[in-house]
Amino acid sequence: MERRFLTFAAAAAQLLFLLGLLSSTLSINESKLQCRESERVALLKFKDGLRDPHSLLSSWEGSDCCNWRGVSCNNETEHVVSLDLGYRHLFDGPSTAWRLGGNTSPSLLGLKYLNYLDLSFNDFGGISIPEFIGSMLELSYLNLSNAGFSGRIPAQIGNLSSLRYLDLNSIYSLHTLYSDELEWVSHLSSLQYLDMNSVNLAKTNDWFHPINMIPSLSVLLLPNCQLKEMPTSLLFHNLTSLVTLDLSNNQFDSMLPSWLFNMSSLEYLNLQFNHFQGSIPDAFANMSSLEIIQIRNNELHGPIPQSIGKLCNLRSLDLSHNNISDNVLALAVISGGCAGDTLENINLRSNGLTGNLSDWLKKLKMLSILNLGNNLLQGSIPPSIGNISTLTNLFLSHNMFNGTLPESFGRLSELTLLDVPYNLLSGVVSEVHFVNLSKLEQLSLASNSLAINMSSDWIPPFRLRFIGLSSCKLGPKFPPWLQTQKNYFIMDLSYSEIDDTVPEWLWTLSQEIDMLDISQNRIAGNVTKLKFHVVHILDLSFNNLDGPLPSLPSSIEYIDFSNNLFSETLVPFFNEQMPILSHLFLSGYHIHGTIPASICHYLELYVLDLSDNLLSGELPGCLGDLASLAAMNFANNDLSGQLPRSLGAYSWLQSLHLDNNSFHGQLPVALRSCTRLVTLDVGNNRLSGKIPTWIDIGPRQ
Ligand SMILES: *[C@@H]1O[C@H](CO)[C@@H](O)[C@H](O)[C@H]1NC(C)=O
Ligand SMILES: *[C@@H]1O[C@H](CO)[C@@H](O)[C@H](O)[C@H]1NC(C)=O
Ligand SMILES: *[C@@H]1O[C@H](CO)[C@@H](O)[C@H](O)[C@H]1NC(C)=O
Ligand SMILES: *[C@@H]1O[C@H](CO)[C@@H](O)[C@H](O)[C@H]1NC(C)=O
Ligand SMILES: *[C@@H]1O[C@H](CO)[C@@H](O)[C@H](O)[C@H]1NC(C)=O
Ligand SMILES: *[C@@H]1O[C@H](CO)[C@@H](O)[C@H](O)[C@H]1NC(C)=O
Ligand SMILES: *[C@@H]1O[C@H](CO)[C@@H](O)[C@H](O)[C@H]1NC(C)=O
Ligand SMILES: *[C@@H]1O[C@H](CO)[C@@H](O)[C@H](O)[C@H]1NC(C)=O
Ligand SMILES: *[C@@H]1O[C@H](CO)[C@@H](O)[C@H](O)[C@H]1NC(C)=O
Ligand SMILES: *[C@@H]1O[C@H](CO)[C@@H](O)[C@H](O)[C@H]1NC(C)=O
Ligand SMILES: *[C@@H]1O[C@H](CO)[C@@H](O)[C@H](O)[C@H]1NC(C)=O
Ligand SMILES: *[C@@H]1O[C@H](CO)[C@@H](O)[C@H](O)[C@H]1NC(C)=O
Repeated sequence: MERRFLTFAAAAAQLLFLLGLLSSTLSINESKLQCRESERVALLKFKDGLRDPHSLLSSWEGSDCCNWRGVSCNNETEHVVSLDLGYRHLFDGPSTAWRLGGNTSPSLLGLKYLNYLDLSFNDFGGISIPEFIGSMLELSYLNLSNAGFSGRIPAQIGNLSSLRYLDLNSIYSLHTLYSDELEWVSHLSSLQYLDMNSVNLAKTNDWFHPINMIPSLSVLLLPNCQLKEMPTSLLFHNLTSLVTLDLSNNQFDSMLPSWLFNMSSLEYLNLQFNHFQGSIPDAFANMSSLEIIQIRNNELHGPIPQSIGKLCNLRSLDLSHNNISDNVLALAVISGGCAGDTLENINLRSNGLTGNLSDWLKKLKMLSILNLGNNLLQGSIPPSIGNISTLTNLFLSHNMFNGTLPESFGRLSELTLLDVPYNLLSGVVSEVHFVNLSKLEQLSLASNSLAINMSSDWIPPFRLRFIGLSSCKLGPKFPPWLQTQKNYFIMDLSYSEIDDTVPEWLWTLSQEIDMLDISQNRIAGNVTKLKFHVVHILDLSFNNLDGPLPSLPSSIEYIDFSNNLFSETLVPFFNEQMPILSHLFLSGYHIHGTIPASICHYLELYVLDLSDNLLSGELPGCLGDLASLAAMNFANNDLSGQLPRSLGAYSWLQSLHLDNNSFHGQLPVALRSCTRLVTLDVGNNRLSGKIPTWIDIGPRQ
C-alpha cells in the first residue's frame, strides 16, 4: 500500500510536472493567443497607408496578428495593447532609407485597447501629427520622437489623460514641430515623462504654468525650444516629483529662479547655453538630491556657493564659461564637505578664478576630471596632486602656474590626459614624471619654459595620440623616444630648439595624422621618405630642410614649407591631386621655374604664398578660377608679363602682393570686383597707365 501510494505520488508529481511544462509553454508562446478580427483588419488598413520600402512589416499577414512584428496583445484579453514600430526596435541596420513612412491611417482607432505606441525614428516626411491620436484614450506611452512629423502639435493630445510618457523629441528630424500654446499639456494629469527637445516653443507666451499643473512629472526635457521667459516670482511650484530637468540651449536671460531651489528631488539639472545672469545663491544647495549640475556657457558671476559642499550625491559640477570670480579656495571648502566624497567631475574652465591650488585637492576622493583651464590661477602645482589616484583628465592650461611640474605626476596611473600649456612652469621634465603613466594619451606641456630631458634609451610607458610640446626645450638632438609613438594624430614640436638632422622614421611613424608641426627649429635633412596615407596639416616651415618637395596625399589641407632650403621646381609638386588644399605657403627659398597652370586645380585655395623665391615667367591665365582666395602673395620673384585679365575675380580677396617683380601693362579691371580688398602692393614693377579711379586709397594722413 505504501509502495503503491508512493508510485501514485510519483506519477502525480510527474503529471503535475508535465502540466506545469505545458502551461508554461502555453503562456510563453504568444502565438497561442487569438487575434481579434476587427483589430487585425485595423492593423492591415494602417499598414496599407504606410510606405515600407524594405518590407519591415512582411510578417503582417495571416490571421495571427498578435504574433506580427511589433504587435503585442494582452495575454488574457487578447486585445492588441502595444504597437512598437520604432525604427530602432524594428531594425537595427545601417540604411535610413529603410524607414517606415507614408500616412498614419485613423484605422488605428480600431485598436481600442492600445496603450503603447512607438513610431520613433521613422520618416513620415513632414506630415502633421494626426489629430486622431488624441482619441486613443488608453495610451499611456506615446513615442513620436524624430519620426519626421512637422507642424503644430495637435492640442487633442491633451485628451490622453492616461498618458505617462510623451516623447516628441525632434533633434535629429529634418522637420520642425511647434506649439504656440501649451495649455493642452496641463490636462495630461498622469504624465511622468515629457520630452520636447527641439520643438519650437518660441511663440508660447506661457510655457511654465501648463507644465506646473502636472505634479506627477518626473522628467522634463525642453532643450533647444527657443524659450525666453522664465517665471521668477512664483509663489508655489507643483513639480515636487521632478528628478530630471533639462532647459539647456534656450534664451533665458533672467536670474536663476528661486523656485528651482525648492526642487528637493531633482537629481539632474541642465541649464547650459542660456544667458542666466546674477550669482548662484547659497540656496542652490537646497536641491539636496542633485547629482549632476550643468550650467556652463551662461553669464553667471560672483562666488561659487560653498554650500554646494553639502550636496552629498553630487558627482558632476560644470560651471565653465561663466564669469565666476572667486578664490579657488571655495573648492577647498566644497571638497571638505560631503560632496568631496562623491565629486567625480569638476569643470570651472573659462571663469575668473584666482588663488592657488594646494593640499585640499586630495580630499576629492573620487575626482576623475578636473578642468580649471583659462582662469587666473597662480602659484605652484602642489605635489599632493599625485595622491589623487582616481584622476584621469587634468586641464590647467592658460593660467599663471609657476614652479616646476611635480614629479608626483608619475604616480597618476589612471591619467589619460595632461593639459598644462600656457602657464609659467619651468624646470626639467624627466622620465620620473611619466613613470606610471601607461594610460596617457594626450600630453600638452606647450608654451611654458619646460625642458624635456629623457635618457637616450628611454622607452615611454604610454602611446600618445596627442603630443603638444611646442616651445618646450626638446633639442638639440631629435628626441629618440618619439620613435615609439607610432599612433599619434597630432604632434607639435615647433619652437623646441631641435638642431639636428631629421630622422627618417619621422616620415613614416604614424600613417594617419591630423597635424605634424616641426616648424621653427633648425632641422636639416630631406623629406624624400615622407609617406603619410592621411595628413591634414603639415608645417615644416623655418628649418633647414632640402632636397625635392614631397608628394602628399589628397587629404592635405594646409601646407607650410616656407623658409627652408628646398630647391626644386613646382611642376612635379603641383601635379599632385590635392582637392581640398586651402593654405599653401612655399615662400622664402630657392624654388625656380614657372608657376604651373596646374595650380588652378586647387579650387579651395584660401591663402597662397609663393613670395621670396626665384620664380620666373608669367602668371597662369587661369588664376582667376581660384574663387575662394583671400590672400595671394607673389612678391619678390622674377615674374613678368602682363597680369592675367581674370586676376581679381575673387570676391573674398583681402590681400594681394605682387611687388618686386617685372610685371608690365595695366592693372586688370577685374580687380575692381574685389570689394573686400584691404592690401594691394604692386610696387617695383613695370606697370603703366593711370591708377584707376575706383581704387579708393582712403583718407590720407
Ligand atoms: C500576462 O502578462 C502579464 C504582464 O504582461 C504577466 O505578469 C503575466 O504573468 C502574464 N500571464 C500569463 C498567464 O502568462
Ligand atoms: C510557438 O509558436 C511557433 C509558431 O507559431 C512555433 O514554431 C513554436 O514551436 C512554438 N513554441 C513552443 C514552445 O511551443
Ligand atoms: C523613444 O524612442 C527612442 C528611440 O527608439 C528612445 O531613444 C527614447 O528613449 C524613447 N522615449 C521614451 C520616453 O521611451
Ligand atoms: C479633445 O481635445 C479637443 C481639443 O483640445 C477638444 O475640443 C475635444 O473636446 C476633446 N475630445 C474629447 C473626447 O475629450
Ligand atoms: C498644481 O497642480 C494642481 C493639479 O494639477 C493644480 O490644481 C494647481 O492649480 C497647480 N498649482 C499651480 C500653482 O499651478
Ligand atoms: C518652497 O517650499 C516651501 C516649504 O516647503 C514652501 O513654503 C514654499 O512655498 C515653496 N516655494 C515655492 C516657490 O514653491
Ligand atoms: C533653503 O533651505 C533653507 C534651510 O533648509 C531654508 O531656510 C531656505 O528658505 C531655503 N531657501 C529656498 C530658496 O528655498
Ligand atoms: C566679468 O566680471 C567682471 C567683474 O567681476 C566684469 O568687470 C566683467 O565685465 C565681466 N565680464 C563679462 C563678460 O560679463
Ligand atoms: C597659496 O597662496 C597662499 C596665500 O594665499 C600662500 O600662503 C601659499 O604658499 C600658496 N601656495 C602655493 C602652493 O603656492
Ligand atoms: C601622498 O601619499 C603618500 C603615500 O601614499 C604619502 O606619503 C604622502 O604624504 C602624501 N602626500 C601628500 C602631500 O599628501
Ligand atoms: C610664483 O609666483 C609667485 C607670485 O605669483 C611668486 O611669489 C613666487 O615666487 C613664484 N614662484 C616661483 C617658483 O617662481
Ligand atoms: C636624403 O637624405 C639621405 C640621408 O640623409 C641621403 O642618403 C639622400 O641622398 C638624400 N636625398 C636627396 C635627394 O637629397
